[in-house]
Order: sequence, then structure tokens, then C-alpha cells
Amino acid sequence: MGIHKAVIPAAGLGTRLLPATKAIPKEMVPLADKPAIQYIVEEAVESGVSHLIVITSRTKRAIEDHFDETPELERMLQRKGDTARLEELRRIERMAQITVTRQPEPKGLGHAILMARDLVGAEPFGVLLPDDLVRNDGGRPCLEQLARVQERHGGIVLGVMRVPRDQVSRYGVVAVEPVDPSGGLGPRIHHVRDVVEKPPAAEAPSDLIIIGRYVLTPSIFGALERTVPGAGGEIQLTDAIRALRDREPIYAYEFEGERFDIGDPVGFLTTSLAYALRRPDLAPGVTAYLRTLRLSAS
Ligand code: UTP
Repeated sequence: MGIHKAVIPAAGLGTRLLPATKAIPKEMVPLADKPAIQYIVEEAVESGVSHLIVITSRTKRAIEDHFDETPELERMLQRKGDTARLEELRRIERMAQITVTRQPEPKGLGHAILMARDLVGAEPFGVLLPDDLVRNDGGRPCLEQLARVQERHGGIVLGVMRVPRDQVSRYGVVAVEPVDPSGGLGPRIHHVRDVVEKPPAAEAPSDLIIIGRYVLTPSIFGALERTVPGAGGEIQLTDAIRALRDREPIYAYEFEGERFDIGDPVGFLTTSLAYALRRPDLAPGVTAYLRTLRLSAS
């Protein structure tokens, strides 16, 4: 495994999930019975990451509390003999080294990543956006897939997936070289020529959108520092990646797995349902309830 550190930017305002996110961080909203950020930390750890850097803000104390020790809860579970829950709490507390650092103001995803500069140092590192959950049951976690590409080819690696053309304008889209028919890179890896943030569908260079998984190199920090605020006055990560396109290789990797976007109410609800239905202990009860509903397409 080529990366040991990963950054989780979690300092955004989460406005699309208001009022749920007025006092509770979006990343702490539960999906089935775990907060979203726990799935993200688990993916990073399963991908070989040992040091996580979480970018938070004043209103996000609950994130660091979630991974901290809770002696009073542990004592209570011990007294009750609830070893399963006790073990789970301890597992969460010991999962990885987690360093929390703050972004003073939400000046954009790029600006959030810049906050991790000193903690990351001079090595390639992963980025996981906690809005995007990726499942690859029985296979390699998404970040590990990207890290393996980085280890083999170097450069920056962007996790991408295909979406219908009418949806591309909501995302960062990559322009890629045609796949080499001799199979040099393999069918899932593309050379990136350019990245375009939220292009109109008719002008989009491809149907490959960037999801919330990246492996970046330390040169991104200099590029971010030189990036002027773009759309919405925010420092955009895609602008900094774009600035590096003639200086180092950029790859797009069509990851294996299923991606869930939890950033808006429908995405959040459907993800919670999908995750519950894949849990042997929760699925029977949830399925029994769904069977009572007279679902119609309207
Ligand atoms: P989003 O724009 O999707 O999330 O940022 P948001 O701002 O939290 O939510 P909405 O759009 O208002 O509903 C993508 C990721 O980047 C982080 C967010 O926390 C999210 O994980 N981010 C964004 C920051 O850490 N800082 C920022 O200034 C902006």
C-alpha cells in the first residue's frame, strides 16, 4: 500500500440537509445505526491508512468526540455485561490515529485540504469526502483501489464513475485520452487531459464524473495556494488539479463498487435504507415494514 495518510474534509455547512444539520454535523447523521463518518474512517483504515486528518469547524465537535474514549459509557456497558457494544465502542476508539484540525471559515474544498498541509508532509495521501459512501462488498475498498493505481503509476488519481449525460452538470467532469486498445493501462484507468467543474451537459467532455475519492501528491498544496477563489468565492480543488495537468500525470480510475451520495435528503434516506437492508440484523425488520407499504411509482 502506497499511502499512509488520508484527509477527510468535513468543515462544510451541509445546507442541503438543513434543518437536520443545524446543530449536528452532516457527517454525524446516522445511516442505519452508524454515523456517516464512521463508514468513511473504516474504508480508509481497510485501505491501509493509519493516520487520518479530519478537517472540521467550530460546529463539528461531535466528530472528534465520536472517536474519543468514553469511560463512563464503557463502565456502564461493562456493568451490564453488554460485551458486544463494549467491543464496538473500543474498536471505534482504536481504529486509527485521528488528528482533527480546523478550517476557520468554509472557503471551499480546496481550502479545507490546504489546512492539512503540515500534517500530510511530503507523501502522496488519500482524500475521502464524507458525503460519498462507496461499498464494494467482498472486494477492495475504493480508496485502496486508487492507492494501488498511484503506487503503480505515480501522479494524482481521481475516483470516477459514469453517469447519464443529463446529470454531469452537477459534478467535476474529466476529459480523458481514449483508452489504449493495447491495454497499457487497463480498461478502468484513463489519462486525464483536463477537469471541468460543473459543465453544461452539452459541453461536458465525457460522462465520467469525479466522486469523493482522490489520491493526491504534495504538489497539490502549492497549486492550492496559487488558486484564486472560483465559483461561489470558494477555492476549488478541481482548479488546483487542473493547474497541475501539464506538470504531473493525472489518472482517472473507474472504481469497482457502488457509490451513495448522502448530501441531500433523498440520497441520505435511500443510502440509509440500502445500508440497513444489507445488515443481517436489521434487514428482516426493515423489509417487513417495506412489505406493508403500498408503493406506487408516482
Ligand atoms: P459540499 O459542498 O458537498 O458540502 O462539500 P457542504 O458544503 O457541507 O454541503 P451543502 O452543499 O452546503 O449541502 C464537499 C465536501 O467538502 C467539505 C464538506 O464538508 C464536504 O465533505 N468542505 C466543503 C469543507 O470541508 N470545507 C469547505 O469550505 C467546503
